[in-house]
Amino acid sequence: MRFTLAAVALSSLVGSVLSAPTASDLEARWEFEREIVQRGASDRSLELLAQLQNTQAGPAPQSIEEALASITLVLQIGDGIYDLAVALIAAGFAPGDISSILSTYSIGDNSPFNINLRSPQGDRIFPKKSPSDAPYSIPEIILRGAIRIPSSFTYGQKPPLLMVPGTGSTGGISFGGNFRKLFKNVAYADPVWLNIPGFLLNDAQENAEFVAYAINYISGISQNKNVSVIAWSQGNLDAQWAFKYWPSTRAITSDLISISPDFHGTVTALPSCPGYPTESCNPAIVQQDYNSNFITTLRSNGGDSAYVPTTTIYTNTDQVVQPQDGTGASAYLLDARGVGVTNNQIQTVCPGLPPGVSYSHEGMLFNPVSHALAVDALTNPGPGQVSRINMATECLKLAADGLTTADIVATEGNNIISVVAIIVYPAKVNAEPPIKAYAA
Ligand SMILES: *[C@@H]1O[C@H](CO)[C@@H](O)[C@H](O)[C@H]1NC(C)=O
Repeated sequence: MRFTLAAVALSSLVGSVLSAPTASDLEARWEFEREIVQRGASDRSLELLAQLQNTQAGPAPQSIEEALASITLVLQIGDGIYDLAVALIAAGFAPGDISSILSTYSIGDNSPFNINLRSPQGDRIFPKKSPSDAPYSIPEIILRGAIRIPSSFTYGQKPPLLMVPGTGSTGGISFGGNFRKLFKNVAYADPVWLNIPGFLLNDAQENAEFVAYAINYISGISQNKNVSVIAWSQGNLDAQWAFKYWPSTRAITSDLISISPDFHGTVTALPSCPGYPTESCNPAIVQQDYNSNFITTLRSNGGDSAYVPTTTIYTNTDQVVQPQDGTGASAYLLDARGVGVTNNQIQTVCPGLPPGVSYSHEGMLFNPVSHALAVDALTNPGPGQVSRINMATECLKLAADGLTTADIVATEGNNIISVVAIIVYPAKVNAEPPIKAYAA
C-alpha cells in the first residue's frame, strides 16, 4: 500500500521538476505525502480487495435504458458498499483495472499536484483572507496544487464553478461523465475542480481547507468575481465546514449545488469499516458517521442551515447516505439565515419517475433533474427552483441530455473506484481525528 502512494508522490515529483517549482516546494510536497503515509495504521481487508478483483466483470450496458435497469436491480439486491461494488462490477460498470486505483487516478485531470502560477488579485488570501477565518494547517503550495484548472478556463469572463468530489474520488473522476461534460461549453459556468490528496479519505477538516482555499483562489484569479460550488457527497460537508469556519468564502459564493450530500453523515459509514475501532478505518469515513464529533460540531451553532444559497438534490434510494428521506434526510438543510435553500428529493419533486427506475448515490450526478436544477441555480439569483423547470419533461428522462451510455457507465463506476480507494487507502485510524482547535 505504501508503494502505491510513494509511486504517486514520485510521479508528481518528476512532473514538477519539469515545470520548475523550487526545492522547498518539492520538499513541502514530499513532507505532505510522507505525513499521510506515516499517519497510517495497518490496513485490513485485503480479502475485500481480492473479492472485487476476482469478480468477473460483466459486459457493459449497451444503452442508457439498460444501464438504469441494471442499477435499479443492483440497488435492490445489494447490502453494504462491498456487496454493491461486486454487483456493479458483475453488471458491467467496472472502470478497467481496479488494482492500482490510487496511482492510476492521480495523473492528468485527476492530479492533486497542479502548477497554478497565477497570483490572486486584491486581498491576500493566505495565511488568512479575513481575520475571522480559521488557520490553515496545510501549506499553500499543497492547497493550490489540488485545484485543476483546464485550459478552457476564462479567468472571470464566464462565472467560475468549483467542483468538489466525494469520498474515495477526485474531481476528475467524480464529474468526468456528467457535469464537467455538460458544462464544458456553456456561458453560465466555467468549471475547475479539486483533486484533494488522499481521495478525500483523510481528515475531512483538512479536506475542507482545500475547499476554502480554492474558493478564495479561484475568485482571486477571476477578477474577484463570485464563485459557485457544485459538490458531490462528502464534498458538501467539506464545503459547509469551509463556509462555517472561513467566513471570507461566504461573501463570494453565489450558489452551493449539493448532489447527494450527507450534511448529517450516514448510518452506513461505520458498517463499511467492519471491526472498527479494533480494525482501522479511513478518517473521513469515521467522521461521516451519523453521530460523529465532526458532524455534531458542523451542525452546531447553525451549521445545519445554509451559509450561501443552496440547492440540495437527493434520492431516498441512496445506497450510501441514509437516512435520505423527507425532512429527516441527511441532505436536508435548514435556512435560519434566510440565504435561500431548496431541498429537492427526487421522489418528491418527480412523483412520476419513469416506472421501475431507481437512482443511486452516484446516479444523482447524471440525473436529469439534478442537471436542470443546477442550471436553474446558476442562471438565477438564489437556489434552483423546480417551479421554473419543465418538470413534466425532465422527470421522464433517464439521464441529462447530452450524456451518452458511456458517461452513465463511467459515472456509476465512480462507486467502484471509491470502494477500492476506501480499501487500499493506507492512512487508516482507530479513533476519530480530534476536532481542530478553531472549532472545538
Ligand atoms: C456574491 O455572493 C454573495 C453571497 O451569496 C451575494 O450576496 C452577492 O450578491 C453575489 N454577488 C454577485 C455579483 O452575484
